[in-house]
Amino acid sequence: MSYLVLARKYRPVEFEDLVGQDSIVKTLQNAIKEDRLSHAYLFSGTRGVGKTSTARILARALNCAEGPTISPCNKCPSCNDILKGNSLDMIEIDGASNRRVEETQQIIENIRYAPARDRYKIYIIDEVHMLSNHAFNALLKTLEEPPPHVVFIMATTEYHKIPQTIRSRTQHFHFVNVAQSIIISNLKKICKEENIQISDRSLSLIAREAAGSVRDGQSLLDQVIAFSGSEISDRDVETVLGAVSSEILDKIIEAISSKDTSKLISLVGEVFDLGYDLILIIRYLIQRLRNLLILKVDSKDLKELVPLGSDEIEKLLEIGKKFELNQILLIFDLLVAAENQMKYSIYPRFILETTLIKSATSDTILDVDAFVEEMNKRPPNRTNNSGNSSHAETRIKSITPYKVMDEEETKEYTNTGKKTSSADELKNAILAAVAKERKSLESVIRASDRVSIEGDVLVIYRSHKSIKSLRDLLLKQNNNKKLIERACQSVLGEGASFRIDEYLPENLEREAKKSKDSTEAKKKQGIEELMNEPTVRNLVDTFQGEIVDYEKKPRD
Ligand SMILES: Nc1ncnc2c1ncn2[C@@H]1O[C@H](COP(=O)(O)OP(=O)(O)O)[C@@H](O)[C@H]1O
Ligand SMILES: [Mg+2]
Ligand SMILES: [Zn+2]
Repeated sequence: MSYLVLARKYRPVEFEDLVGQDSIVKTLQNAIKEDRLSHAYLFSGTRGVGKTSTARILARALNCAEGPTISPCNKCPSCNDILKGNSLDMIEIDGASNRRVEETQQIIENIRYAPARDRYKIYIIDEVHMLSNHAFNALLKTLEEPPPHVVFIMATTEYHKIPQTIRSRTQHFHFVNVAQSIIISNLKKICKEENIQISDRSLSLIAREAAGSVRDGQSLLDQVIAFSGSEISDRDVETVLGAVSSEILDKIIEAISSKDTSKLISLVGEVFDLGYDLILIIRYLIQRLRNLLILKVDSKDLKELVPLGSDEIEKLLEIGKKFELNQILLIFDLLVAAENQMKYSIYPRFILETTLIKSATSDTILDVDAFVEEMNKRPPNRTNNSGNSSHAETRIKSITPYKVMDEEETKEYTNTGKKTSSADELKNAILAAVAKERKSLESVIRASDRVSIEGDVLVIYRSHKSIKSLRDLLLKQNNNKKLIERACQSVLGEGASFRIDEYLPENLEREAKKSKDSTEAKKKQGIEELMNEPTVRNLVDTFQGEIVDYEKKPRD
């Protein structure tokens, strides 16, 4: 069988063939219909999401003998030549290829000549950020005063490398990573066309691996077909992808939720026997929890951040009901830490086992608040310290695994000029502004280890273990960064911004100590005295907590 790779065979020919880029398609179609075309477009986005395909469709739309039209005929000489890749008036340059520098430069310098036959001379420049300096400058010059018959379509996977001078002269479209569900239906359609037997589960495994890239999904399908022919079993797919089946992952998560520790141990044994790389199990679990977390925080607004088909989302929502948000965060941290440990350990299996058991028992750690409340309701135990009334009247305010600063400390920390409102008020105002735009985002920020105002900067502290995922979420996704910045500025004034910092309890503690030695010493002494009480010590030991503060109640 002669086999044309799927990604080439199924390259979108019409705007309608493009999947997952609806708003771009719509905007371009409207521009064509209303004759509001730009002379320079910049397409950004990861590999395999449709940039080149869109550029070529747009080229035909512009140059079709019947055009400009949103549905090029694909029959006329202009369309045909572009489809075959030998049009004189559509020139493709690949910044990443080793095409000679002078050649590229020559092409760009020839831009001022009129098109040979078609309406426009169209330049598609792929990976434009990789052009040589010379070529880039030549391009910039033409962009400043583009000849009327020229249209540039530039594409890049690294938008941040495109200088402002170019950005400002182009119309920018960002191609999003394509949702897993959309990739699944794309693959499904192809399989039908190709007479390939494959289950939905296999398709979603492939789509998961594709991580937002339609092309990667199609290439993986190629690999699977090469391995198994036209009848593909789930096992084949798992083998080819080296993937951990989601069935096992869900069994593990299920066992964590039901605190079935012996089940967890046997599941670890099972995956071990199957020869899976255990670090992969952790990584997939992290991925799954991340999705769970997002759906838990906000299943409506943030759904698009979860690259899963709707049936998978339903399933996750169901699983999510069994966990508290805090618990997911804690398990997440445990898994991320375990992943790090595993890289250097000769006992990956033991690490996986203990991590899963810790995860399963994590809610006992988290119920501390409720427990403390319960303890406070009980009459003070006078038998042990009948002679020491001050201790008997002491109530425990909180016990936390992390040392969290109280409001006083936060204020002291704040070198803001804004003395009128307390740091906490400002912080709450900012969070309220965030919540107004995106409730889920506020919850994510609040779930951080500490949030404080330092000068005109909102600082979000997160422990080392999960700071990367928080950064990804807040800085890279969904315009979150802009949104938070706007909120900061609305409260703290122009120039205000936010920062994500690593939460290092020791450092914060040391800093805080410097500024308030005396009160601290007093408090410390009080805590030490408290720790002499067996009930308190017991409590602290049980939860491996730490007394952060205490409060004395007047005797009634
Ligand atoms: N949005 C999309 N819709 C349909 N197919 C796509 C899409 N994005 C990528 N593909 C598939 O992947 C292949 C490569 O896409 P391409 O447009 O070259 O991606 P990019 O230029 O963004 O890397 C296409 O031939 C097509 O099979
Ligand atoms: Mg491309
Ligand atoms: Zn045509």
